[in-house]
Parts: sequence; structure tokens; C-alpha cells
Amino acid sequence: MSDPLEIDVITIFPGMLRGFLEESMLGRAAASGLAVFRTIDLRDFTEDVHRTTDDRPYGGGPGMVMKPEPLFKAVESVRRPESRVVLMTPQGEPFGQRRAESLSRERHLIFVCGHYEGVDERVRESLVTDEISIGDYVLTNGALAAAVVVDAVVRLVPGVLGGEGATEDESFSEGLLEYPQYTRPASFRGMDVPGILKSGNHAEVDRWRREQAAERTRSRRPDLITKRTEESKDDEGG
Ligand code: ADE
Repeated sequence: MSDPLEIDVITIFPGMLRGFLEESMLGRAAASGLAVFRTIDLRDFTEDVHRTTDDRPYGGGPGMVMKPEPLFKAVESVRRPESRVVLMTPQGEPFGQRRAESLSRERHLIFVCGHYEGVDERVRESLVTDEISIGDYVLTNGALAAAVVVDAVVRLVPGVLGGEGATEDESFSEGLLEYPQYTRPASFRGMDVPGILKSGNHAEVDRWRREQAAERTRSRRPDLITKRTEESKDDEGG
């Protein structure tokens, strides 16, 4: 078996993540040795009795800023030459399936969870390799955002989902939303499963699904169609 994907999450709220990392798919990934999760309490890297991780901003203004010393020490306690150091921040690059795929091929990810008004700029300049946002809204701290990214990344590690290829056919892997799915019963409260899905004609089923996925994406997420067209142009351009 290949080396596990190792993930360290640095936060002042390690308790927020523990349950999440132990349950369900992530718990199984860890139990089967495909991933290793560690939560690191940033306060363990402070030196004052109050275990201070933040301070007032130079230049004044509201809010607090995360101090550089504990963050540098915490990262340096686990960093290796191949590590990626990912800062969770609303100012980061928007997270998407492409990024999830590339992070799932890494060996070691260190997530730095910000909170308060932000982190000292020197952390961003010389400690962090990636900055990721999970959407255009502000959370109270980055631990929840890191959990979202960890979940999306770890499920792509080969072997985690069991059935090989289970992720190839799903939303976003093709840049489209998923087609409608049905299971038994064939008729439920007067609503019937489309006949074509029961026809046994695989070619027709595939065609129907492709059409449905395209139509759903056109009506709900036209931005994805534009993005897909641009990406295929980029690919042709080399
Ligand atoms: N921390 C606070 N809000 C965030 C967001 N939208 N994405 C990533 N980290 C965050």
C-alpha cells in the first residue's frame, strides 16, 4: 500500500475537528491507514501564562490579529520539505473540485485555521504555500473551512471510497452537475421512474443521463458551462 496522506490541522479549537475526523468516511480512511489526521492546538506553542494567540493590529482599528510566533512554531514543528501549508481564509483562492484533486495527490498537508480579523501578514508571506476560501462568506474561524477541504480531499484518495471509479462519474468531475437518480420503488405516490432507466438499454441510458446533466447545468449553473468551454479551449491551446 502507498504512504498515507498525512494531514495536520493547526487551530485554537481542536475539539471542533476531532469528532468530525473520527466519524464516517474520514474515520474509516484513518482506520485503514490511507490517511493520518492530527489536530494541533496552537495554544501549545505560546509562551505566556494566558496562552495568547492574537494581539491588536498595528495602525489601530477593530478586531484582533493572529500573532506570528505561535503559528511559525506550530508549522515548523511538523513541516517537511514536501509539505503544503494551507491557510484557510475568505481571501484565498475559491476552493473547487480541481483543487481537491490536486491536494489529494500530495503527501503532507498542514492546514492553518485563521480566526479573528486575520493573521499577521508575515505568516502569509513566508510560511503559507496556499490560501483557500470555501466561499464568499465569513465564518467565525477556519476550522470548519478546513474540515470541508479535508473531507473533499480525503474522499479522492485512492481506496477511501471502496468501489474504484466511484468519483469519476459524479458532479463536477466532468464540470457538470449530476443527472437525476432513482432507486426502488418504480412507482412512489404516483411519481414514476422514467421508463428509459428501466429499459436495460445502456447506450440510451447513458445518452439520457448526459442530456439531463447538461440541461440541469444550463438551467441551474450556466457559469459552469462557460468555465468548461474556456477550459477546453485552454487545453486545445496547449
Ligand atoms: N475562514 C473564515 N471564513 C472562511 C471562508 N469562507 N473560507 C475559508 N476560511 C475561512
